Amino acid sequence: MPVKISVHERSVRESVLYQDKNFYISLAQMRRISRDFRSEMARGLAGDKSSLKMIPAYVDKPSGNEAGRFIALDLGGTNLRILQLELKGKGRILKHGEKKVVLGEKYIKGTAQSLFDFIAGFIKDFLREEGLEQTSGLMLGFTFSFPIQQSGIASGILVHWTKDFSVSGVVGKDVVVLLEAALKKKGIQNVSVAALVNDTVGTLAAGSYKDPACDIAVILGTGTNACYQEKLSNILKWPGRKSKTGKMIVNIEWGNFNKIQLTEYDRLLDKKSDNPGFQILEKMVSGMYLGEIARLLMVDLIKRKLLFRGGNLAVLGKEKIFKTEYMSRIEFDNSAEGVDIEALLKGLKVADSSAQDRLLIKSICAAVSTRATRISAAVLAGVITKIDPSLSRRHTVAVDGSVYEKYPGFAGNIEAALKELFGKKSRNIVLKVTKDGSGIGAAIIAGIV
Ligand code: GLC
Repeated sequence: MPVKISVHERSVRESVLYQDKNFYISLAQMRRISRDFRSEMARGLAGDKSSLKMIPAYVDKPSGNEAGRFIALDLGGTNLRILQLELKGKGRILKHGEKKVVLGEKYIKGTAQSLFDFIAGFIKDFLREEGLEQTSGLMLGFTFSFPIQQSGIASGILVHWTKDFSVSGVVGKDVVVLLEAALKKKGIQNVSVAALVNDTVGTLAAGSYKDPACDIAVILGTGTNACYQEKLSNILKWPGRKSKTGKMIVNIEWGNFNKIQLTEYDRLLDKKSDNPGFQILEKMVSGMYLGEIARLLMVDLIKRKLLFRGGNLAVLGKEKIFKTEYMSRIEFDNSAEGVDIEALLKGLKVADSSAQDRLLIKSICAAVSTRATRISAAVLAGVITKIDPSLSRRHTVAVDGSVYEKYPGFAGNIEAALKELFGKKSRNIVLKVTKDGSGIGAAIIAGIV
């Protein structure tokens, strides 16, 4: 006898199928993304039109023998951070002091002057607290996690802001010049900026300081990006220069990749964002946006009366109300009735959810996050096969970022997708959490220079 299902249950099932159709990335699609990504990389390296900037970082991987005392300054997410580090050589690092502060809207959406004056004041306080005010010749590594067009290891012009930064008066300017001017204004004379690095480059430096097989770094956090070690002879747009090793780190700025199929929700999110048409991959993969995609999908299902029987639109209709952290918590709830999901929804003032609603929300989160992991795996596969087409040797990928570290199943799903793409050979790809790369790495790079 056929099992009878209720109308409501049927609508839930239909809507689950509906999400799958929109969000599922098949193996064939991953292969296509990977191939298109490789072509975009090649175009970017040649200086041809490409959604990938492929920015030479003016530095190669460290040898592991860099030594000395350095200050690292890290700007690029919610926190502004400063650290004092001692590199001991042979891959050993000692952390001496650390200070961080949350950067409010006032600074991330204000003016260049207020931001850099604040940073200089923050550095001054740190030097005082660490007893470094009188120490001469302090070298600072500056991690600046945005697209910067570098013209040397200690200079670079901001191409445009990403994530939720929109400070006026910085685009088109050299951020090291801005920082040094602010230091001077505060009377700080003993600090000089030795290196300017992207967070991916810092993470690669931190990963490879300890492990020579590390040649790629990925950030999966508020934003997303990757860098890798490339042969100078392949960086066609940068001819005639030599380096000791014949190689250089290239910051891909993969968040801007756009050869990828969008759903109507992605289009809506992009249209309403600060930077429409840009950072398309970042908007499908990173922590800043995943919650909003899930929210747009929920709103659509509410309007179709497939979720909350058409209710709760007033709450969930508010832009950015549904954070990626909530998705994390929802996917973590394995109870049959979605007990913790219910508590979370109540906290958001979402009323009267049924167990089916809650399970449907969980499957929405899973559809959005699984797509993010499969896209990440596909573009990572593009980078790996660009360096090593037959995956003949081991590649350690240093990974940092809250989404990769904290989102349940995220890391595992990326690994599973890599296995689908490469079969047994995927054993040659080792993803390694490299915490704090954006702090430590800038100091290591300051030590290479
Ligand atoms: C954004 C920035 C990029 C950074 C990434 C991760 O994509 O443009 O430079 O590496 O976020 O923080």
